[in-house]
Amino acid sequence: MKLLVTGGAGFIGSNFVRHVLAAHPEDSVVNLDKLTYAGNPANLEDVAHDPRYRFVQGDICDATVVRDALKGVDAVVNMAACTHVDRSLMEPDEFLRTDVFGVFTLLEAVRELKIPRLLHISTDEVYGSVERGSSRESDPLRPSNPYSASKAGGDLLALAYWQTHKTPVVITRSSNNFGPYQYPEKVIPLFITNAVDDQPLPLYGDGKNVRDWLYVLDNCAAIDLVLRKGKEGEVYNIGGGHEVENIVLTRQILKLAGKPETLITPVKDRPGHDRRYSLDAKKVQQLGWAPRHKFGDALATTVAWYRAREAWWRPLKSGEFRAYYAKQYGAR
Ligand code: NAD
Ligand code: TYD
Repeated sequence: MKLLVTGGAGFIGSNFVRHVLAAHPEDSVVNLDKLTYAGNPANLEDVAHDPRYRFVQGDICDATVVRDALKGVDAVVNMAACTHVDRSLMEPDEFLRTDVFGVFTLLEAVRELKIPRLLHISTDEVYGSVERGSSRESDPLRPSNPYSASKAGGDLLALAYWQTHKTPVVITRSSNNFGPYQYPEKVIPLFITNAVDDQPLPLYGDGKNVRDWLYVLDNCAAIDLVLRKGKEGEVYNIGGGHEVENIVLTRQILKLAGKPETLITPVKDRPGHDRRYSLDAKKVQQLGWAPRHKFGDALATTVAWYRAREAWWRPLKSGEFRAYYAKQYGAR
């Protein structure tokens, strides 16, 4: 199979490209990525010279670039997105552009060029905060911030193209991912790298918000399965099944990093902060998927990875990140 992966230079995208090249020797991958602050060619330097891999720098909102990249492709996996909730509160424009208009551009090109499959990668955040129980694929979407609202817009558009044009879309909605190559603005890599440097860990609100954590390699395996076995027009939740309060997670990170709990610094809450996400993942389990990594082991592997790969993350925490961090935490 010849795949077009968009956003392949980001966190999940780079892990997914590596997964496909290793798991499917007959497959090839074109990676179309704009290289925003979150896209990093270093994430894939180990496969850069694989003859089955090709990188194209470009924007999914650019119809000409997208049509060109789609030539001869059997399936598209759309990972390209603006992804950080806090940034969407400060600069929502780019979220609407990429996460809605970018999806529209891909849908139009896939329809016109009759590409056999478009797997669109979405998030549990489209369901909004879930006080009790777990979100099922048929539940209404109640996004509560510009990131999740933009992602919900992309999902609804994709499903509308299936309804009206039978454009062959499939959607996955996963819970919070963690693991190697995650940009250090997201909570787990931010807290690990701050801890390494004995810097404060800014914990929002009362620290009791709950996220359902999924190791990125388990998500890659699920995405791969849905890509090959999922039914057109359907949505598949991918949940890690490990729900934990942020304060508990923070203590676990500090313990693994060998740093004191005095680094925990409560800060003002994120506006509109969703209290809890929880996914019912029975549907993807029925396709034959289950997470293979235990949360505690995967978190330990992740902490060890960041400790061993300072050369990867240190440059990311300077420059643009420093300005973002000052704006973000200066404002709180
Ligand atoms: P990321 O921010 O690490 O990477 C996003 C990638 O998309 C970057 O390489 C960036 O350069 C690229 N990109 C952004 N705008 C683009 C554009 N207009 N054209 C082309 N490329 C562009 O994101 P991630 O965490 O790897 O997330 C990947 C996907 O998975 C996203 O769709 C996200 O909504 C979804 N998701 C992420 C999580 C998570 O916990 N990280 C959970 C559920 C769903
Ligand atoms: P994040 O990694 O931004 O993912 P999302 O908001 O998409 O779930 O945040 C995960 C949780 O951690 C969320 O409840 C917000 C909280 N958080 C903090 O307490 N401090 C931080 O500095 C960050 C970035 C997040």
